[in-house]
Amino acid sequence: MSVKTELNFTLNGRPVNIEVPVDMTVLNLLRENLDLKGTKYACGEGECGACTIEVDGTTINSCLMYAADLNGRTVMTIEGLGAGNKMHPMQQSFVDHGAVQCGFCMPGMIIQANYLVKQNPDLTREEMKRGLEGNICRCTGYTKVLDAVAAIVGAEG
Ligand code: FES
Ligand code: FES
Repeated sequence: MSVKTELNFTLNGRPVNIEVPVDMTVLNLLRENLDLKGTKYACGEGECGACTIEVDGTTINSCLMYAADLNGRTVMTIEGLGAGNKMHPMQQSFVDHGAVQCGFCMPGMIIQANYLVKQNPDLTREEMKRGLEGNICRCTGYTKVLDAVAAIVGAEG
């Protein structure tokens, strides 16, 4: 039987109190225990970015972090980005630019894109490319993704 620990943290603006196995990942906590399926499992090894979330304002791969390490911290997942049924401007821009195909990579991609723009509102296209290189997309070829982010920052293509 695995050892459990009690966890208190803030998730998408709400307090969470939950007991978790000490070896559970944040990704499994979100998807299996908290029923937030927006954050995706793909490689499970920190290579694809599908599981990207924000912890204390910084993006991380949630497949690589233990849930126990969330104690006292603040988490934002894709479910926390918009306002109720209203999409966040970054989500809307991805839709408007046809940047979403199968959609599997999109929660992580959009969380990362939003983080990059918060860090640097004058992001260049090159900086976008570098900042998104940890987020793998098998469908879009990335051009429309970059167009979508560029529209938010007003950057030139
Ligand atoms: S599932 Fe976490 S980086 Fe791929
Ligand atoms: S839209 Fe299919 S993997 Fe990116």
